[in-house]
Amino acid sequence: MSANTLDMTAERPATGTQPVQTGKIVLAPPAMQAARERPEPATPETSAFMAERVCVWFGQRQVLHDITMSISQKTVTAIIGPSGCGKSTFLRSLNRMHELVPGARLQGTIRLFGENIYGAGIDPAMIRRRVGMVFQKSNPFPTMTIAENVTVGLRLNGVRDRDELEERTKRALQMAALWDEVSDRLHRPATSLSGGQQQRLCIARAIAMEPEVILMDEPASALDPIATQKIEDLLQILKNNYTIVIVTHNMQQAARTSDYTAFMYMGRLMEYGPTATIFQNPRLPETLDYVTGRFG
Ligand SMILES: Nc1ncnc2c1ncn2[C@@H]1O[C@H](COP(=O)(O)OP(=O)(O)O)[C@@H](O)[C@H]1O
Ligand SMILES: [Mg+2]
Repeated sequence: MSANTLDMTAERPATGTQPVQTGKIVLAPPAMQAARERPEPATPETSAFMAERVCVWFGQRQVLHDITMSISQKTVTAIIGPSGCGKSTFLRSLNRMHELVPGARLQGTIRLFGENIYGAGIDPAMIRRRVGMVFQKSNPFPTMTIAENVTVGLRLNGVRDRDELEERTKRALQMAALWDEVSDRLHRPATSLSGGQQQRLCIARAIAMEPEVILMDEPASALDPIATQKIEDLLQILKNNYTIVIVTHNMQQAARTSDYTAFMYMGRLMEYGPTATIFQNPRLPETLDYVTGRFG
């Protein structure tokens, strides 16, 4: 099996209810891991994304090499790897954002629920609507209120009905686990919120558009531990409804929150599989070195 091929054939972890300590990393209890993992590889029917031989260049420089991977629906998939290995670029290729960089070029196919998002006649703006994105630095619109931030995309898309806007604001804020904290001050500026709240507001803004998938690029790396915990808890709730792909440089976070982990190195997908396997029993020595903190 080549290093770029999906390996989901690894053994299922044993069951148990205690968290598993592996070196410095604490994994979710095996019973929870088993319950949340699909043992079989994503198939065209169960995948949200199927990337095939994806290569990306910025100008002359190739930064992604032949990435083939399927991402299962309604799971959390973590992408890990040293800085500069191409995690953000790959994530951004999943919703056609990378091409906003002048000189960026992609080869290969990416299917979203079976449809090639790079196919002829596909509108990138529509793909970006179906595939929401949350960034490292929370970026609420500073001149808008909390409520306006949630509905800005809807209003741009022509939703005018006040009741509908209010209803969708509430629903998105509830989904983002922020409603209880802001329901009495929806019309205050978004900038009055804490950093962690602002990040959940950005998640609510993404959810309000009713995307099919949510991509998150290091969403908690600028947050304190308590705010980080809230985002991690939120991921477990969101995956009941959404497929989530999260880039993180925090190994603990990948181990705690994800069902599958992809390890990238120098623009290549080195190893990919159930999170417990990647952290406890990876196939490659490079993966082991990275997840145990020996390099990166
Ligand atoms: N806008 C850009 N223009 C040119 N090169 C870029 C651009 N964005 C990223 N790169 C390069 O692509 C490679 C992968 O970057 P990136 O995907 O941001 O890595 P990571 O998210 O893993 O840190 C790096 O070598 C980076 O310098
Ligand atoms: Mg990055």
